[in-house]
Amino acid sequence: MADSYRIAVNVEWTSKCNALCTMCPRDAIEHPQLMADRTWQQTLKRLSPQEVFRVVIAGYGEPTTHPQYFDFVEDARRHPVRFDMVSNGHLLDPEKLAHLDGAVGLLIVSFSSIDPDVYGRVHVNLDQRRVMENLKAAQQLLKRTTLGISLTPMPECLPSLPDTIAWLKAQGIHALTMSPTLYNRGGNLKEHALASERLRALIREHGLHSQELDFIPSGREIFRQWCSNRYKCVPRNVDLFIAASGDYLYCYNDVGHRHPIGNVADDPLRAVLRRREDMAAIPALCDDCNMRDRYGAGELLQTGISFVRQRLRQVA
Ligand SMILES: C[S@@+](CC[C@H](N)C(=O)[O-])C[C@H]1O[C@@H](n2cnc3c(N)ncnc32)[C@H](O)[C@@H]1O
Ligand code: SF4
Repeated sequence: MADSYRIAVNVEWTSKCNALCTMCPRDAIEHPQLMADRTWQQTLKRLSPQEVFRVVIAGYGEPTTHPQYFDFVEDARRHPVRFDMVSNGHLLDPEKLAHLDGAVGLLIVSFSSIDPDVYGRVHVNLDQRRVMENLKAAQQLLKRTTLGISLTPMPECLPSLPDTIAWLKAQGIHALTMSPTLYNRGGNLKEHALASERLRALIREHGLHSQELDFIPSGREIFRQWCSNRYKCVPRNVDLFIAASGDYLYCYNDVGHRHPIGNVADDPLRAVLRRREDMAAIPALCDDCNMRDRYGAGELLQTGISFVRQRLRQVA
């Protein structure tokens, strides 16, 4: 390892979900499961601010469906590392929201469209009106947690994007983010190709926050990651995925959870990172992955410029 660096960690409280979103290839998970309390406690012990700059509670499932939601949130509140959460918002009623306040720094609710037909087709099984009511409640109730939105980068969501943004802003919600890549999740989604250039242009046009910047702790640490890892895949190297089983996954794009590289019960996080630093690409996962070249030389430069711009805006 060239030098130490911090990473983001993605923790999956559950790989079960109350939705069937069209863009999410969760059907690749053979045995969806809940994270056991014991595994969660082991996970917490593995996370330290020296090694982790951010923990995102998301994974491939819906965290608010976990039966121990209230206990787990309480544990996150007491932990020294910064926690964020990504949710589809359907179960985020006022009681759950009030409990979340201050325990996570950023709550990101995924939202596809203000158009009920589009929402119903993309966020299958969810109630758009209920999610919208929960968003309004979140905006009122959250005092120490920032509310953000993850806008779905699906082609069918884009015609209604201006109206969706206008409704969210009218509610006072301004932290609007979008991924510049509609991930094909290691080749799991072939039919949803959408050029990242087009998404980047939309992100710029609407003044959205690009999610690719959220996994970069600092320019220096990205450089250290780059030097330390034999396989120069930035999306793989900036993040470590801890599945509901406690397995550390080789890459968060391993939707099928088929490539574990350790488990929280046995391995400290740094030991797993060292193991991964020496690992090459896994052809079954990497060959068809559209994230692989997300940070080629040009894109890395563009991302670096956006990163610096954003930091300058934050200090201004
Ligand atoms: C997998 S979900 C898990 C958390 C939660 N169930 C939710 O829907 O927000 C995490 C995020 O990934 C996004 N997502 C799912 N599939 C995607 C894809 N193929 N490309 C880009 N983002 C995707 C979701 O919209 C959501 O914002
Ligand atoms: S190329 Fe491989 S390591 Fe990189 S993001 Fe894709 S699946 Fe992950």
